[in-house]
Amino acid sequence: MNIRPIAISLSPNSQTDDVGECFKAFLNFTTWQKGIWEEKVQNWFIKYYQVKNIYLFNSGRSALFAILKSYGIGFDDEVIVQAFTCVAVPDPVIWVGAKPVYVDIDESLNIDCGLLSRYITNKTKAIIVQNTFGIPAKLNEIKKITQKYNLVLIEDCSHSLGATLEGKRIGDFGDAAFFSFGRDKIISSVFGGAAFIRKSDADNKLKRIYEELSYPKLSWILKQLFHPLAFFIILPLYNFYLGKVILFLMQKINILSKPVENIELTGGIPAVYPQKLPNALARLAFNQLQKLESFNIRRKEIAQLYFEKLQGLKSIRLPPQNKEAIYLRFNILSSKRDEIFKIFRRHKILLGLWYSNIIDPVGVDYNKVGYKLGMAKNAEEKAHLSLNLPTYPTIAENQVMYLINLIIKYAD
Ligand SMILES: Cc1ncc(COP(=O)(O)O)c(C=O)c1O
Repeated sequence: MNIRPIAISLSPNSQTDDVGECFKAFLNFTTWQKGIWEEKVQNWFIKYYQVKNIYLFNSGRSALFAILKSYGIGFDDEVIVQAFTCVAVPDPVIWVGAKPVYVDIDESLNIDCGLLSRYITNKTKAIIVQNTFGIPAKLNEIKKITQKYNLVLIEDCSHSLGATLEGKRIGDFGDAAFFSFGRDKIISSVFGGAAFIRKSDADNKLKRIYEELSYPKLSWILKQLFHPLAFFIILPLYNFYLGKVILFLMQKINILSKPVENIELTGGIPAVYPQKLPNALARLAFNQLQKLESFNIRRKEIAQLYFEKLQGLKSIRLPPQNKEAIYLRFNILSSKRDEIFKIFRRHKILLGLWYSNIIDPVGVDYNKVGYKLGMAKNAEEKAHLSLNLPTYPTIAENQVMYLINLIIKYAD
């Protein structure tokens, strides 16, 4: 029996062995900042992507910031991003002094490459491609455009580590790629990220930028290590209210870290970015990387179940079916989105609302991050309709079936 609640965002990748690693990392407090685990994660990526170097950061947004800096992108430059994203993507563009330019999305919820050339000006320096929810974007077409206009193609692999396009790994198409090990990403070390650049001149710059960074403070590392340990206690108690109360109290007294700080909602930069990935979190990331393949196989199996069982329901639209996608979340579109979300909450099931704001999370000041309503109509429409179903590896088969039956009951 799975004692976890069905909740898409509560430490979804963390299993008992991860908690064990976290506890060991916690006890080894002399190696919280520097140690052997950083190199292990680096070697994993070097082997996987056949790159010369990889640099580890304390978040995907730090990694993106460092990539932009390495290409000398800054004041008066423009960087193309898609609408229907997280503020952690346009923010680093703003942090380096450049302007994010938002392009609308296609039916795969990725940047609409047919629109790209309209947005390219002589100030445009780079395009960031998101591969939303693990569904590959049209990277071959986008690459032709970046080559034509001499732009840097940055692959955001935060949702898509392990996905492929025409047999080629996501991350292998661009000039640069970055990754996130955030709490509900493909693999998780609560916070973490990585970046590589293929060409040696920009790679050398990235190396210099990385070397000048410091490690986060011990108090910050402690807070992140506390996260899997706290959820190990909270999750089994969650459906008996006690877990909810403990979670609420921990959040109230600020001992659990928030994924996005308030200052970021207005394009500001928290003091902790950009910094290096501390060794203690690299240990968690390394343990998760060993399970990447099995995690993604499971995600695909669950997505397949949704495709089979939810086909043909009147009030929901399913995502595109793509054998190479890894479906970090299974995003359905429904005009009954809010109603379904509430019904599920009454059944003690927490579905996901990623990108129910054009730029997530709630509270982002669109003005400050350069988005004006009406700029990306398709993204705005999809943001209103989007509801994420869980595919996380720790959800049990009977939980998925329970959820599917509820959707059939209420969404048809
Ligand atoms: C598409 C996408 N890219 C990048 C990031 C940034 O990753 P991180 O949270 O590790 O900074 C996020 C965060 O949610 C994201 O959703």
